[in-house]
Amino acid sequence: MYGNETVGYKTLKSDCSEESFPFKGAKGIVINSRQKKSALIVAKLLDFLALVSEPLEHDIICLPHGQQNLPQELLPLLEQYDNLILWFDNDSVSWGNAKMFTKKLSEGRCSLIRPLENQPAPYICLKNGYNIPTIVKSAQPVSHASIVTFANLREDVLTELYNSDKVSGVKWERFPALNGILKGHRRGELSILTGPTGSGKTTFMSEYSLDLACSSVTTLWGSFEIRNQRLAKTMMTQMFCAPLEKNLNKFNEWADKFERLPIYFMTFHGQQPLNTVMEAVEHATYVHDVAHVIIDNVQFMLGISSSEAGFLDRFSRQDALIASFRNFATTCNCHVTLVIHPRKERDGEQLTPNSIFGGAKAAQEADNVLIIQHKMSHASLKLRKYLQVAKNRFSGDLGIMPLEFDKEALSFRTKQK
Ligand SMILES: Nc1ncnc2c1ncn2[C@@H]1O[C@H](COP(=O)(O)OP(=O)(O)O)[C@@H](O)[C@H]1O
Ligand SMILES: [Mg+2]
Repeated sequence: MYGNETVGYKTLKSDCSEESFPFKGAKGIVINSRQKKSALIVAKLLDFLALVSEPLEHDIICLPHGQQNLPQELLPLLEQYDNLILWFDNDSVSWGNAKMFTKKLSEGRCSLIRPLENQPAPYICLKNGYNIPTIVKSAQPVSHASIVTFANLREDVLTELYNSDKVSGVKWERFPALNGILKGHRRGELSILTGPTGSGKTTFMSEYSLDLACSSVTTLWGSFEIRNQRLAKTMMTQMFCAPLEKNLNKFNEWADKFERLPIYFMTFHGQQPLNTVMEAVEHATYVHDVAHVIIDNVQFMLGISSSEAGFLDRFSRQDALIASFRNFATTCNCHVTLVIHPRKERDGEQLTPNSIFGGAKAAQEADNVLIIQHKMSHASLKLRKYLQVAKNRFSGDLGIMPLEFDKEALSFRTKQK
């Protein structure tokens, strides 16, 4: 509903999957109005139905696109409420998404149901016979002052402890080894991917981000090196594990499926001023609730060529870019991945975090450093590639993941043995 008008609908299938229509354009809410000044907001229809049957002093609202996006067109609809309580799933990813939405809804009137063991999503509470009104009463206001005491922090610490055994972040379907090392993809971090020219950085990042987008990580791609249509073609090939050229009759069917993924593309190409790009990124993040921004690659965006004179200027421009994105990742609680070329290395040498173009700043500011390495296998005399996690601020675990390339599917996906 939007006001008194029906603007779309949601379906709930017997396997509990949900869909919204229109798929991307649905800009209304599902509401059970009890004429209250306070509303309980959930992401799933199933949770909505669970709450509707409870004796609660709140309006019950279900968002049109789950945790993926809170369209800003909904904000006027929610203005009438003095108090909004968000209740999503009890894992750390949902917790991050809920906190993100409270920024848009203005934190002062928002409370959250903590993602604790005994406070799962409403539907599960209902199934397990938990007392839903008691859980709703335990909602905690979002603290938003710039200075907090431990009293404010203790709930956050407890939440982290409860969730520490769950993988803290969104997991990759195609790269189980990365889940083992990085533990998942989290909001608010800065990752850097480097590797020699032509080593597959763009191809790998395309699949890595596609995999996350398939798990509802809203993604904004800044492809400064290759055109968006080429990138989209690579991603579609990777999604369907088959070359499009040989499957032209399936194009429309596949394109319809691909279109449903939460992926946005910046229309920039080649060199752009940093401010222009930052403005576009911040705007898109606010409007679409972007959780992952990719810049491929930093040298193309800055228009740095190896022939450019004055490397001091190049370094300082790159440092400014890294500082801007670092700050953006933290303040907007969004993950940023920067693809950066390495400095010129002598042939055959392995790259290290210090090989990143521009020197120490990049490696210092990054939470994660990923490097595509080549290694000659002595046994088969074949050039093998692997992805090295050379820095990992979250858990400290380092390691490698072999990269085997499937040329038809443009995929590095780990084959099931
Ligand atoms: N491991 C690999 N083996 C063979 N070809 C690869 C491999 N990785 C990528 N490619 C191919 O090499 C080309 C360059 O890859 P690209 O991802 O653009 O590299 P980069 O972004 O590092 O310059 C692409 O055509 C890609 O399909
Ligand atoms: Mg590239």
